[in-house]
Amino acid sequence: MAINKLKVTLKHLRLKTPLMTASGTAGHGDELTVLDNYQEILGALGAFVTKGITFKPRKGNPKIRVIETRMGLLNSIGLQNSGVKVFLKDELPLTLQYKLPIIVNISADTVEEFGELAAYLIDNDVNSIISGIEINVSCPNLGEHGSIFGTDPKAVERVVGTVKKRVGDKVLVITKLTPNVTDITGPAKAAIAGGTDVLSMINTLRGIAIDTTNCRPFLGNISGGLSGPAIKPVGVFMVYECYKKIPECMNKSVPIIGIGGISTYSDALEYIMAGATAVGIGTAWFVNPRIFEEIAKGISDYLGNNNTTVEELVGKAHGH
Ligand SMILES: Cc1cc2nc3c(=O)[nH]c(=O)nc-3n(C[C@H](O)[C@H](O)[C@H](O)COP(=O)(O)O)c2cc1C
Repeated sequence: MAINKLKVTLKHLRLKTPLMTASGTAGHGDELTVLDNYQEILGALGAFVTKGITFKPRKGNPKIRVIETRMGLLNSIGLQNSGVKVFLKDELPLTLQYKLPIIVNISADTVEEFGELAAYLIDNDVNSIISGIEINVSCPNLGEHGSIFGTDPKAVERVVGTVKKRVGDKVLVITKLTPNVTDITGPAKAAIAGGTDVLSMINTLRGIAIDTTNCRPFLGNISGGLSGPAIKPVGVFMVYECYKKIPECMNKSVPIIGIGGISTYSDALEYIMAGATAVGIGTAWFVNPRIFEEIAKGISDYLGNNNTTVEELVGKAHGH
């Protein structure tokens, strides 16, 4: 593989390839190690993003939590996790063996809790394992009657500003945007105003599936988040819009991680050409456990055939 051509940087963080796991789809700790192709996966990945954690443990939503749709997956896991204390003691140290930059995805119910969680993580990361914190703003803001943080630019700016103030430049602060808005550039600009280092997009699109045999929604939580191939054009569009309309994205002072529906190397290249410096892969990984090495090889062959690098391809669809 043309490994030098694959490397990218997100601010100061160097990744050997632009590929990352999408939060929630590859576990918290050493879940990858049980796979036969574990070494190949680690060779293909540039970074590992953990499943979302919260301050206190959460049981998650009632069953059924996942249902397949024609071109994707509808999930309502409900942020099931053991809480930050167990995460730091039992789960995070297991990721050391990956020898990859580790990005921890965080969720909270209030702006203050986001700040507390981020500060607690950084202060108690005794082995300095964490390279970045990804703020999931797709969760309900209980301080504001349960509206989703990510749909309100002011709330996004407050969350990001609070986290950034607590962690400073110790780790990369990444803000993961929700696509459940009419104009993604609003929350993206708000995250930049709050001091985010990197933007990632997209999280899942809200949806529902109804079981016609018993006339009830399939999911225990009624609605869920749609992921997988069906959402790819939405994700690529949102990356394209941010890159085109936000100078910090175009000049890469705030790089973008593109996520949503990637299942082939050309899907990943679409995101990169739209303006993403790195890409996250989730649902496709449930279908094809070799997805990371296949996509890395596909991109590498493309770079070799076209005598270019990933970094040269970022934003290429914009014609300059
Ligand atoms: C089962 C499942 C769990 C997820 N959990 C999280 C999570 O904890 N935090 C988060 O920010 N995104 C979470 N996501 C969203 C993914 O990280 C990703 O943004 C989304 O699935 C779109 O990418 P994909 O189409 O490649 O799966 C989850 C997605 C799935 C399918």
